[in-house]
Amino acid sequence: MFIATRDLTHTYMPGTPFATQALKGVNLTIERGSFCAVTGPSGSGKSTLVQHFNGLLRPTSGQVLLEGRPLGEGKDSLRRARRQVGLVFQLPEQQFFAETVFDEVAFAPRNLGLDPAEVEKAVEESLEQVGLDPKELRERSPFHLSAGQKRLVAIAAVLALKPQALVLDEPMAGLDPAGERNLFDLLRDLNRRRGLTVVVVTHRLEEIVSLVHRVYVLEEGSLIMEGSPEELFRRREELDRVGVAPPPWWELLRELAGKGYPVNTSALTREEACREIISLFKGEKR
Ligand SMILES: Nc1ncnc2c1ncn2[C@@H]1O[C@H](COP(=O)(O)OP(=O)(O)OP(=O)(O)O)[C@@H](O)[C@H]1O
Ligand SMILES: [Mg+2]
Repeated sequence: MFIATRDLTHTYMPGTPFATQALKGVNLTIERGSFCAVTGPSGSGKSTLVQHFNGLLRPTSGQVLLEGRPLGEGKDSLRRARRQVGLVFQLPEQQFFAETVFDEVAFAPRNLGLDPAEVEKAVEESLEQVGLDPKELRERSPFHLSAGQKRLVAIAAVLALKPQALVLDEPMAGLDPAGERNLFDLLRDLNRRRGLTVVVVTHRLEEIVSLVHRVYVLEEGSLIMEGSPEELFRRREELDRVGVAPPPWWELLRELAGKGYPVNTSALTREEACREIISLFKGEKR
């Protein structure tokens, strides 16, 4: 177990007429090294939930456990949590504070006490990792970038922390197809090769479904379903109710395999699924 919640409840503005119970007794466990998705309709509590994973929000009741220890208990617990679990906000502006992209991304390495040359290298690496050109952007204000560039700078700044877990709230929003592809490859690499635990909040499960081990579905602050994508997609009617759907290609490959056609259902992307179907088609024509 890496991150877990126990009966986690969160109420915004408690005791006022505006009190909103955003999370209602959520219990979940995220394993170290896994790739998880949190999905559900707007307002279901996804952003509220993930902001508990590094202690940014504190429970109204219940607990968050990090490596089995209650978050917030003991000296340095919260500070350690913010280092271990890097959180990329739904709105990147919410996490920006520096005047230049360089200073934004340099914050974590400087905090770690690296010397200027090492900071320089860490910033460059982090920006390059997300597909941004350090030379072009370093002196720009993070607030004055395009939506996609802001998103990537926010991710780079969190990567510079060298966290053990990366939690991204709607990371694909605002990216063009090339940016999406680059981020997809980066997340796959961080999870599979470097063993980072990755949690992605998304409305469009389709965009990352092939990387995901476990999906958590929220509805009105409650965790209503969890399981592997395969397990969830079998519960089609319940998913339809909350507007979560498997990608069409995912369904098509499984339907073909179910009818006995020799297709590999482990395709990772739409392109791979297309190739799979084309090779089946070519094979049949022969
Ligand atoms: N800062 C806040 N103050 C008061 N209420 C809030 C605040 N943030 C969120 N809420 C409320 O808490 C509930 C859950 O919101 P949350 O942002 O966690 O949902 P979400 O699933 O992330 O939605 P979306 O998909 O639109 O990002 C909603 O009813 C929302 O109005
Ligand atoms: Mg949200």
